[in-house]
Amino acid sequence: MRFSDKVYLVTGGGRGIGRAIVQRLVEEGGRACILDPDRHGGTDAAREYGAGVLYVRGSVAAERDVRRAVAACVKWGGRLDGVVNNAGIASPNVGPLEDLSLATWRKFLDTNLTGAFLVTRAAVEHLRRAKGAVVNISSTRAVMSEPETEPYAATKGGLLALTHALAISLGPDVRVNCISPGWIATDAFAPRDERRPPKLAKKDHAQHPVGRVGRPEDIAALCAWLLSDEAGFVTGQNVISDGGMTRKMIYA
Ligand SMILES: NC(=O)c1ccc[n+]([C@@H]2O[C@H](COP(=O)([O-])OP(=O)(O)OC[C@H]3O[C@@H](n4cnc5c(N)ncnc54)[C@H](O)[C@@H]3O)[C@@H](O)[C@H]2O)c1
Repeated sequence: MRFSDKVYLVTGGGRGIGRAIVQRLVEEGGRACILDPDRHGGTDAAREYGAGVLYVRGSVAAERDVRRAVAACVKWGGRLDGVVNNAGIASPNVGPLEDLSLATWRKFLDTNLTGAFLVTRAAVEHLRRAKGAVVNISSTRAVMSEPETEPYAATKGGLLALTHALAISLGPDVRVNCISPGWIATDAFAPRDERRPPKLAKKDHAQHPVGRVGRPEDIAALCAWLLSDEAGFVTGQNVISDGGMTRKMIYA
């Protein structure tokens, strides 16, 4: 019960990786506030995990929503020990650069990168008081790419840099780290009425050095460790959890 009496804010916690992080924090005695525009995911998570979860509807890209969510979280929990900047537009493919609109580019920036700045800024006073921690969820796409993923890759690279900048500015009171997940199949952490077994082929698993595609629980376990006091000597870091994919040479 590492997180007894602790309170966390997890953005995008209504489904996917964020939801698995919420589940893990609650299982270990903590409470978690979810900020997510998806009412169905947010309310379903709050129902599934019970009194340890507060759902606040809103977007990390909207300054007012962020301030409201942090205030609601602190009012509900009485404190704030950590923030997980997980919310993101998680579909990287946007088509050819020639057709990429400025509006699409800005949408990715606003949600995936500016959101982490807004939430951390709104929470910092509480985090300093609690000697808390921040975990940003980046991606292995911060360091490698498929074609036609420029806005997503740029935001994830930005999160790596934001992580070390914040770690230096907010230390020694607040630790700030980053996780870069590889391929994570999130189907099992959809709202309960949408859950399906993941459609994965043998070759999907086999291309990973560990022999399988990732699960949200893999990221939740690492995130819980980074938030906990056991990671007290770790700040400014990016930890890759990708089944070894970024260490694998690919010669056609
Ligand atoms: N699944 C993967 O393979 C993978 C790999 C690397 C990185 N990631 C990153 O992990 C994070 C979670 O991804 P996922 O696969 O669980 O995605 P997902 O789409 O399953 O869940 C994302 C959640 O974020 C919420 N969200 C979207 N826009 C938001 C906003 N403006 N404000 C607040 N919440 C918002 C969604 O409503 C949803 O509940 C993302 O940042 C994604 O880029 C995912």
